[in-house]
Amino acid sequence: MSKIIVKKSPPLKGTIRVNGSKNSILPILAASLLSKEKCILNEIPDLKDVEVMCEVLTSLGADVKRKKRGIIEINSYNIDNYEAPYELIRKMRASFLVLGPLLARLGRARVSMPGGCAIGSRPIDLHLKGFKALGAQIDATGGYVNAYTEKLTGNTIYLDFPSVGATENIIMAASLAEGEAVIENAAEEPEIVDLANFINNMGGNIIGAGTKTIRIKGVKELHGAEHTVIPDRIEAGTYMIAAAITNGDLRIENVLTSHIQPVIAKLREAGVYIHENGDHVRVNANHILKAVDIKTLPYPGFPTDMQAQFMALLSVSKGTSLINETIFENRFMHADELKRMGADIKIEGNSAIIKGKNKLAGAPVSATDLRAGAALILAGLIADGETEITNIHHIQRGYAGIINKLKNVGAKIDLIEA
Ligand code: EPZ
Repeated sequence: MSKIIVKKSPPLKGTIRVNGSKNSILPILAASLLSKEKCILNEIPDLKDVEVMCEVLTSLGADVKRKKRGIIEINSYNIDNYEAPYELIRKMRASFLVLGPLLARLGRARVSMPGGCAIGSRPIDLHLKGFKALGAQIDATGGYVNAYTEKLTGNTIYLDFPSVGATENIIMAASLAEGEAVIENAAEEPEIVDLANFINNMGGNIIGAGTKTIRIKGVKELHGAEHTVIPDRIEAGTYMIAAAITNGDLRIENVLTSHIQPVIAKLREAGVYIHENGDHVRVNANHILKAVDIKTLPYPGFPTDMQAQFMALLSVSKGTSLINETIFENRFMHADELKRMGADIKIEGNSAIIKGKNKLAGAPVSATDLRAGAALILAGLIADGETEITNIHHIQRGYAGIINKLKNVGAKIDLIEA
């Protein structure tokens, strides 16, 4: 089995460029099904998750071409299959985002239920609530969601929780519906805004993305469009912590700092120097950092996808920190792995109490999800000796080029292929 070996590294110094956002690309790839014309997407990193979503689109009849690095062309003229099979959805639950576009385009869809994952049960009730409100008949039995409608009609949908995926799926379904749909208590993440901008570039009529109330006026059809996805705010935050935890000095390029203010604020509270300079940030810390408390919340609150990485940093900060994870019910599995490296972490329900240690010791550890894997790399950079990380497929799903990016700024990190 392939693994990543990380050794205690000197303070990281140099420049790292952030990729296009994984969590923006995946819904936008699904949204390309809404048009019968060619869509061109730029700044698309080589990620396993992107590969799987392209496989799903191809299985539905789309013509997907990966051009020279970073460009994908999709032509969904010939969408003739409305079923997304379990073996593909199982590989990546975000493939469930094809349900909305299939309903809008074909009036029917049969998509395997995504099931849970390590961090939580990941229900889809709010997605289905939205589709039903738009007039679809839904049968969610036998492990599949069978959806059917003569036509979709705008309606008002209140989301009990501002679910990112449900907001995205409903926006896509409503884009070709008759009349206006209103999503209340919508997710406000930057990836929602990027998706709405893409669909509006295709001739859609969406206003309010990025706020709690989104209005989608359905149109007859959507034409092709070219789009450059926003930078990956979570990848940016991860490398900012790499600078902080190694007391290094990194210039991180292709960053929209407005998308990552909670992480910048918390790093500054911990004593990290962050200089925001337009599309890049300079991050340095040349001293022991202070303990801070973190509470994960829907955007614009502190992102749950940065919680594991921050826990690694707090494991070696001075003092006692409290992390309160309010988004997912089981997103502390990285704590056990960090404790194998000597971290002092106590889990009580959805809270983690972290007592900062002077140092950690390298150990064999396992990535339990994408962000937990990133946290273990960060901890390995400052742990004495060698840290061997297995289950690294999680990391490869969301961090294109992470080994070389970190090596280039001085990290002692290697990928050992099985
Ligand atoms: C997206 O997942 C992201 N994934 C996740 O990133 C991210 O952690 C999450 O949003 C929260 O920000 C992608 O964008 C591909 P949710 P999603 O629906 O859409 C509850 C990463 O590491 N909920 O906002 O699945 C659910 O139980 C990944 O890149 C319902 O109750 O997240 C959870 O507690 C991990 N009913 C909460 O909402 C529903 O129908 C957040 O889920 C849907 C969700």
